[in-house]
This record gives sequence, C-alpha cells and structure tokens, in this order.
Amino acid sequence: MEIDERLIYWYLREGRDLPWRNTRDPYKIWLSEIILQQTRVEQGMSYYETFINTYPTIGLLADAKDDKIMKIWQGLGYYSRARNLLETARYIQNELDGIFPQNYAEIIKLKGVGPYTAAAISSFAFRLPHAVVDGNVSRVLSRVFDVEHAINSSEGKKVIQALADECISKKEPDTYNQAIMELGAMVCKPKNPECHRCPLKSKCLALKNGTVKNRPIKIKGKKARVRHMDYAVLETADHVIFRKREEKDIWQGLHDFAAVEEVNEPQESYMRSFIGREFPDLRIVQIPAAPEKQYTHILSHQKIKARFWRYSVDGFIGENSLYLSIPKNQIEEIAVPRLVHKYLEDVSLV
Ligand code: ADE
Repeated sequence: MEIDERLIYWYLREGRDLPWRNTRDPYKIWLSEIILQQTRVEQGMSYYETFINTYPTIGLLADAKDDKIMKIWQGLGYYSRARNLLETARYIQNELDGIFPQNYAEIIKLKGVGPYTAAAISSFAFRLPHAVVDGNVSRVLSRVFDVEHAINSSEGKKVIQALADECISKKEPDTYNQAIMELGAMVCKPKNPECHRCPLKSKCLALKNGTVKNRPIKIKGKKARVRHMDYAVLETADHVIFRKREEKDIWQGLHDFAAVEEVNEPQESYMRSFIGREFPDLRIVQIPAAPEKQYTHILSHQKIKARFWRYSVDGFIGENSLYLSIPKNQIEEIAVPRLVHKYLEDVSLV
C-alpha cells in the first residue's frame, strides 16, 4: 500500500473525533485553523466551542465588538490572530457578501492566512488537493524520507513541500491531510515516537537507518530578547488604573498597567517619580516595599520579566487616552495578558 492509503486507513480507525472534523463549513474550519496555528488541540477546543456558540456565522462574528473578541481570546496568546480574525470576518461580510472564498488563491489572500492555513481550508472545506505542511507534517515527512536538510531552512522547506505534494491523496486530500497531522500529533511525536504502532513503519527510512531521534534537523533560531517591565499598579478605594496597549508592540488591544521599561530593576524612588510625571493629579497614599516576586512570560521572540509595584493613590487620572480607570468589580471583564492575569489572581483583584 502507498503512504497515502496507509495513512487514511489508520486515521479512519484511530483518528480523534474533533468538532471541526465533522463539518465542511469554511467559517468553522477557518476559525479552528486560526486557533490551532499556535495552540494545542486540548487547549484550543473550549475556545473553539465558545466562538462557535457565541458567533455561529461569520456575519455574527463580523458584528462583534473588538474588546469582546479580545476578551474571549484571552489566554490563547498571539493576539494578532484575534485581531486578524475579526478584520477578516468583517471583510468577508462586507466586501464578499458574506461568502467565504472558495479556492486556494483567494483564501491565501486573507489576513492571517498563510500557506498552511490556506491548504487546510481548501482541502477540508472544498476537498481541493493542497497538501498541508505544519510542524507535525514536517516531522513525519522528515522521518519517513530521512531528510537531512533542516526543516526550517529555505531549502529544507522546499524539500518538505515537494514531498508533501507528492504524497497527498488526490482522491481524498481532506482525509489525507487530517491523517498526516494526526499521525504527527499522536504517534510520530517529537519525543518518544511510537514507531511500533505506526502505519508507515515499513516505509520509514529514518526507522530503517536508525535516525528517528535525529529527525527532524532544525537550525537554532535567534535568542529571545529579554524585556524588564516594572509596573505601577495604581489603586484607589474602588478603581485600578490600567493602560490599553494600542501601539504595534506586544499585546496590542490588551490591558496592562503604567510601566517603566528602560531601567533594569528601578528603585522605589524611581517608580515614584515616574508616577508623578505620568499622573500629576494623583497623590500617593502608601508606598510599597520592593516587589519580591518576578513574573516571567515567554513570547515567540521575547522574554518578559515583570515586577508589580502596588501603590494606594487618590485623585484623578484626568483626561487621558492611554490610561483607563477600571472599577474593581469590572476588572474581570477586560482583556489582559496572561502574566497580568496571574498577578491579579495572586493579589486577589480578580
Ligand atoms: N492542528 C492544526 N489543524 C488541526 C486539525 N484540523 N486537527 C487537529 N490538529 C490540528
């Protein structure tokens, strides 16, 4: 049997029944693939259900408020996905009469959709023969064909895509694509692959050559940039002052606090003069001790190290487009980065 047939037989017997696998609705498939771009199935599932239950059609999603979408997305990370999702829903609703594009060339033009996602939607919704290549698929193919190129080099990517295009079933491209991803997720795992139960074991060159452990080859990326943030958490009797991040930096559209970033581990006096400059109408009532805990959050190219200084204040923040005074009983409703959420939990503000 050929590779595609083996994969399909195996998948029909052993593949997981996931909610987005029982539909040809391009809206649902697109939504699931955007969520799964950087998120594991187990984590993404409940977010998918929430979106589909809240917005059963693309038209309803297009009408949603930006802040509501950011809030639902909270915890998934990579928030540009949420912004692109909404922008694309509005574009399809308003410019394409609500009709999802129906072929690869049109689908890949959508914001937030790259070659992988375009191939996934084309095959799952429209049964078009476009082979998906993601991390799972690259690993499977690099092992089956014992590929010596680094899968994240430009040459390696070409080699893997060519192998993928060669292997895909022309009759059942949709099932084949699900199957090869499933194999990568469940059997041909990065660590401890279960070769004994693999439907491709008799075809696998890495298994034959004893190189499974050394495939795929990857070239190491650049080291993440470390950023230190010292947050001023300004608290009145019933409000906390947040900053809405609008700039093209991390966490666009989410809320954190006023922050000192340019100084590594500033003293309290530095924080106090920063607050004085930023909020001339606020009066500091109580000065905090230096924070003991550091919160770390790893993004794709950055490592954030944050400390939180909690000041009791009174007065007004005045007219200010950057900062928002949020009633304590409404903090739960605004979208915040995971690191800020952890802090809010630690100090019982949510
Ligand atoms: N990861 C990305 N797309 C997926 C899919 N359709 N099923 C399972 N995992 C996935």
